[in-house]
Amino acid sequence: MDIIQIKGGNFLEGEINISGSKNASLPMIIASLLTEDKIKIRNIPNLSDVFTLLKLIKSLGSEFELINEDNSTYKLIIQTKKIKSNIAPYDLVRKMRASFWVLAPLILRYGEAKVSLPGGCAIGTRPINFYLSILKKMGALIKIKDGYVKASIKNNLKPINYKLDFPSVGVTHFFLMISSLIEGESIIRNAAIEPEIISLAEMLNKMGAKIKGYGTSKIVIKGCSKLKGTDITIPSDRIEAGTFALAVTATGGKLKLKSINIKEIEALKNVLQNTDVEIKSLENSIEIIKKNGVIHPIDIETKPYPGFPTDLQAQFMALMAYSNGKSKIKETIFENRFMHVQELVRMGGDISLAGNTAIIKGKKDCLHSAPVMATDLRASASLVLAGLVARGETKIDRIYHIDRGYERIEEKLNSLGANIERVNA
Ligand code: EPZ
Repeated sequence: MDIIQIKGGNFLEGEINISGSKNASLPMIIASLLTEDKIKIRNIPNLSDVFTLLKLIKSLGSEFELINEDNSTYKLIIQTKKIKSNIAPYDLVRKMRASFWVLAPLILRYGEAKVSLPGGCAIGTRPINFYLSILKKMGALIKIKDGYVKASIKNNLKPINYKLDFPSVGVTHFFLMISSLIEGESIIRNAAIEPEIISLAEMLNKMGAKIKGYGTSKIVIKGCSKLKGTDITIPSDRIEAGTFALAVTATGGKLKLKSINIKEIEALKNVLQNTDVEIKSLENSIEIIKKNGVIHPIDIETKPYPGFPTDLQAQFMALMAYSNGKSKIKETIFENRFMHVQELVRMGGDISLAGNTAIIKGKKDCLHSAPVMATDLRASASLVLAGLVARGETKIDRIYHIDRGYERIEEKLNSLGANIERVNA
């Protein structure tokens, strides 16, 4: 199993290209199953989550070609002429929760589907109650048996007007996909407004769907009988960009992030500007300059977009552990997204938990190397950031977590002056 070894203390200087977004790629690849036509998706990132999903959809009957383009991004040419299997097995769905969304194309094109319950993960129980309530209201027959959701359609699914209790990103993706092929007008209220929702809606509209209001909390979908092929490009990964912005804030230095627009990380930008960071918005890139080593402590609360993203919470905590004062981080999206706390404490962080709030007593140079373990994707990114500034050599185990969402992170960081090595332990 690979581990990452980081010798801390180097500045970060230079420029990197932000890869295609993991959280836009997954729903857009699944949306390709909604048509029997050929779909081209460009700027696919080289991530293990993408390959896990491709393995699943191949088993469902998709045929695809993955063409390696410049700097290892991929162009995916995919076609699902016929759904050959309607089963999404546990061993794939448990690895990558977004696989659950294949339930939408399966039930529409096959009439019934057997999809494993995603199960919980390190950051929470990850329930699917909103998905099931939508399917039932649309008229699907739902049975939960042996850890699987068995869904079938007696007559055609009917359009519904549904208000979400929480602006769930996944449920909004799911609702857009399934409603695109249900005759009539469907409405989802309190919908998620993340940029990935906009990317999916734009793709579905290019395929012939009629979706209005995406990017706002009320989305109206006029379903059609058939969707057609299209050629679409994955937007850049705003969470990868935010992770690198936090890294250079911690280490000091000057970084240019290419192919990303500042508005994608607006909430983080507003926070970082209170820690003496200069952030410049250039033509489709961002420049982050951190001259002095002063990191002011700042309280944050994670929120649905456009609030501070929960996917940057763990990385921000590493920065606050290294700041010169006390700060609080409140996690309001997931009930257990603090698995990185104990590992940061092992590295010298002074962090305690009170319910869904972490209290961090930051201290400059408090972080030192220690053998630590990644527990989930963003926790592993947090440990890499801590390792970049910790004294000595930090060893991070179970690094397969980080490959789920970051393309060649050690290569990118080394190209900026870090001292990182991936070794086979
Ligand atoms: C997406 O997960 C992202 N994953 C997550 O990114 C991200 O953290 C999350 O949205 C929130 O922004 C992908 O896009 C692949 P949710 P998702 O449904 O859709 C509750 C990463 O690190 N909920 O918006 O699963 C749920 O328990 C990953 O890249 C229900 O209660 O998130 C959670 O508390 C991690 N019932 C809240 O909604 C449901 O039926 C937000 O979850 C569904 C969700």
